[in-house]
Amino acid sequence: MADLKKLAIFISGRGSNMQSIVNACQSGKIPAEVAIIISNRADAAGLEFAKNKNIPTAVINHKDFPSRATFEDALQQALAPYNVDLICLAGFMRVLTDHFITKWPEKILNIHPSLLPKFKGLHPQRQALEAGESESGCSVHYVVPELDSGPVILQKTVPIEADDTEESLSARILEQEHTAYPEAIRKILS
Ligand code: GRF
Repeated sequence: MADLKKLAIFISGRGSNMQSIVNACQSGKIPAEVAIIISNRADAAGLEFAKNKNIPTAVINHKDFPSRATFEDALQQALAPYNVDLICLAGFMRVLTDHFITKWPEKILNIHPSLLPKFKGLHPQRQALEAGESESGCSVHYVVPELDSGPVILQKTVPIEADDTEESLSARILEQEHTAYPEAIRKILS
């Protein structure tokens, strides 16, 4: 198993995408292992799952640092022992700056619940509904300093139904996210 790539996953909350990546690694669908899961919130529900799977976790609370750069230095330090090949942002609610991103060129991925370049930023499902779109979906993309703007690796599309709410559309997209993220990682690693 020496050729397994090492992943870090950054979360802030529920962590359902993190779980789908861990499960894909453990079932052999991705030739990788999750080396560390980092949360910027101690109360992130996803941390419990990681601990139950005996995956190392670290909590690095951005509020403990005087600047984005010092927070990012702490992230970097936490990663240092693990020889990580890829960093997967999975519901990580902090914007990373060039200070961190330039240290990991084409090594940081994110998943966003819209068909980028449409609907960047917060509440993309609500934005899609308000724009009267007939379809939406999710995008896995490389992270660059400009928010939600890096090259797209893979997208999955879902229909928008007439009676959709933000919740119902989010749930339909999330189901696709859970296959899209592992597929995108496999694509990159192969
Ligand atoms: C997902 O919808 C993801 O696309 C967005 O934040 C949400 C995180 O959900 N970036 P989870 O924490 O992975 O369950």
